[in-house]
Amino acid sequence: MGSDASLNFVLEDHPSPTSAADRAALIADPGFGRVFTDHMVTIRYSDSRGWHDARIHPRRPLVLDPATAVLHYAQEIFEGMKAYRTQDGGASLFRADANAQRFRELAYRMAMAEIPEDLFLEACRQLVSIDRDWIPSSEGGALYLRPFQIASEVFLGVKPASEYLFMVIASSVGAYFRGGAPSVTLWVSEHYNRAGPGGTGAAKCGGNYAASLLPQKEAIAEGCDQVIFLDTIEKRWIEELGGMNVFFVMDDGSMITPPLGGTILPGITRDSLLTLARDRGLTVREERYSIEQWRDDAASGRLREAFACGTAAVVTPIGRVRGRGGLDITIGNGGPGIQTESLRTALVEIQRGLAPDPHGWVERLF
Ligand code: PLP
Ligand code: COI
Repeated sequence: MGSDASLNFVLEDHPSPTSAADRAALIADPGFGRVFTDHMVTIRYSDSRGWHDARIHPRRPLVLDPATAVLHYAQEIFEGMKAYRTQDGGASLFRADANAQRFRELAYRMAMAEIPEDLFLEACRQLVSIDRDWIPSSEGGALYLRPFQIASEVFLGVKPASEYLFMVIASSVGAYFRGGAPSVTLWVSEHYNRAGPGGTGAAKCGGNYAASLLPQKEAIAEGCDQVIFLDTIEKRWIEELGGMNVFFVMDDGSMITPPLGGTILPGITRDSLLTLARDRGLTVREERYSIEQWRDDAASGRLREAFACGTAAVVTPIGRVRGRGGLDITIGNGGPGIQTESLRTALVEIQRGLAPDPHGWVERLF
């Protein structure tokens, strides 16, 4: 049931949209994830009716019965993607089809109803269109789209829900790291794991992030920006950050990134950078890289740069890595490296329509 991608979206007019002056003030320096647009999308699913009741309406609180399944068993998934302001005042999406596909895969892993990719994309396009004035035109600014889906059935038995609510909200954003930091410092989580083999590490489900909060809190307490996780079995192979994938740049220009395999998120930024690097003739190996190797390569100079990547963080240089037992690694000179910057620029210029798009990643909306 429920493959109706041609649902009509009902539009509920906003009774009191934000004024242009208030909006301009809100999006001038929005930070990340605190400034929200006027509208949202909701689409309902039930086993008996399939996907139905697609609406664009004023952004408002949800009313949920206290026994709603998501509140108890966390059957929830989300995506993150950006709409960009083009130079001529239009807007575009970057690889949203990849997000739509990943969302279906996440739904499968969490035993949830899978929303058709066309319907997911249409919901995103409609929201960007109606809230187009919320896309910042500042450098580094974008409209962050957060599609998500929750188990909305009211039932306390532990089973896949028979009802779901899919929603999209949008947030005007700037840099993810406060002050647009030139490089970040990571804290190696020793006691806490993110995901093990067969778990939900490859899924963007809320539970993964809930489990990362205590190690992230430890990272902040240690004066670091983000936590980095090791594998759960040998406790030595680098996996990923709390919300980003990771790349290493060697002294011969080749790069290494941890392989996919179920315990890390198959990042769309990661995939795009792999493609851009290979387009340049760079060797990129998707292979395991250990924390000991990281320390030794940074000390010997074999490792020249390291960076984190994701939709929210784009490409963020890693300057330093710290951990228990006095682990303290400085990468290069601790600041942004040349290859990192060059790949970041290449990616951002495609995303913003400032460079040709040979892979057909950009969808012009209007
Ligand atoms: N890894 C995690 C755990 C994430 O939350 C994200 C962010 O979405 C990423 C990696 C990067 O994925 P993407 O490039 O698709 O945004
Ligand atoms: C994203 O990059 O879209 C994420 O979901 C990461 C999160 C830390 C905001």
